[in-house]
Amino acid sequence: MSRLVVISNRVAVPKARGAAGAQGGLAGALNSALQSNQGIWFGWSGEECESYTGEIETVESEGVTTATVALSKQDIDEYYNGYANSTLWPLFHYRIDLTEYEQDFAKGYERVNERFAEAAEPLIEDNDLIWVHDYHLIPLGERLRARGMKNRIGFFLHIPWPPARLFVSLPFHERLVTTMLAYDVIGFQTDEWLDSFLHYCTKELGAEVDEASGTITYEGRTTIARAYPIGIDWDHLQEQGNTGEARQAGQRLLSSTRHRIAMLGVDRLDYSKGLPERIDGIARFFDKHPERVRDIVYIQIAPPSREDVESYQRIRETLEQKTGQINGARSEVDIVPIRYVNRGHSLAELFGFYRAAKIGLVTPLRDGMNLVAKEYLGAQDPDDPGVLILSRFAGAAQQLTEAILVNPHSPDDLSHAINKALDMPREERKRRYDAMIGTVREDNVHRWTSNFLADLQGGEFGSP
Ligand code: G6P
Repeated sequence: MSRLVVISNRVAVPKARGAAGAQGGLAGALNSALQSNQGIWFGWSGEECESYTGEIETVESEGVTTATVALSKQDIDEYYNGYANSTLWPLFHYRIDLTEYEQDFAKGYERVNERFAEAAEPLIEDNDLIWVHDYHLIPLGERLRARGMKNRIGFFLHIPWPPARLFVSLPFHERLVTTMLAYDVIGFQTDEWLDSFLHYCTKELGAEVDEASGTITYEGRTTIARAYPIGIDWDHLQEQGNTGEARQAGQRLLSSTRHRIAMLGVDRLDYSKGLPERIDGIARFFDKHPERVRDIVYIQIAPPSREDVESYQRIRETLEQKTGQINGARSEVDIVPIRYVNRGHSLAELFGFYRAAKIGLVTPLRDGMNLVAKEYLGAQDPDDPGVLILSRFAGAAQQLTEAILVNPHSPDDLSHAINKALDMPREERKRRYDAMIGTVREDNVHRWTSNFLADLQGGEFGSP
């Protein structure tokens, strides 16, 4: 197989894999593919520098070379906090109300994509497969082509693709999509996001789309677009689950909750995750069933995220207020109904928490996939599994159809689901778990990478 070059905004050194995977993000998913293909992983170091130099820092570890560049404050503000996280992220999660359309953000985004292309060029050899990730780097493939690169270049979008009628609110939307068509293969998490993209290409661009084969032909060039649902690293999760750290974490949680059922949420602190709406659902549950306050404790693990972006500062305040209100209204001397933990945990610890929690609450308002839902199931005791309550608006709901599927906007729906989960007999819990665990185990991250890379290597599509 050819050498693999992965390019993404964030780069994790292999040692950090557990921690990155624990947050359900992109970083944990890629190491194994890189390890077996003498890979290079290029991206932003996460560091700020005085002014951009393009100097690359490389680190080799476990067969993977990471190559990173630092960005200037202006680049970080306009590209990462700006266009990526204040324009594309909210728009792609259907939050047009939070979307900021600043020209400087768009310019910074184009500038950093060009810088990435310039810095990555010397690292890339003729036969390398190039795999670009996520919304930060949509135009990167086109920028590499402009430098004469004929390599096979693929792109995977980890977040949703919005319906065309929302997407057209983005100034220069055609430009963004036409740059995307410089890739040979474009991957989405689910058919829903793929369909929205194909619909846009047909209706707005007038491209020729063959839905059966997933090919898009535009201005004489053909690109393949398909859904490749991402999975978890099953083996790594089980390994982590077998550690003393995982067992201790589970025991710590169980001994602190005593006879009460632990209900758990693990999310980056992001408005797309539906956290205030979830707290409203829990409040509704307590209003309707005050006698059950003693039956249940809700643990919300929510490590802060993108703290320089205002909408993230606001969500944090909202969540703190709501949690405080419920705890104020419902606590007893020996009971605090909601525990809100504002920091991240290792995957081993999370495994322990997932397994000890008899209910897993994963209720994003919109989510490309959501790996926490799959990790929660992957950590359950097959003989006595917990219940997954899952938003129908998470990509994962297309595969995990035997979860209790809810509308996260409806406090009544959430309240009803919690009540149902609390009373669910073991037989039904097992039946639901058995129906879902196969896809969690088999459609794992290794299958995801090999499916995508097989199409990227294919060769029959898209050569310029
Ligand atoms: C989502 C995105 C990833 C991103 C992760 C963490 O999962 O799809 O690309 O890395 O969030 O966000 P951050 O801004 O901290 O990289």
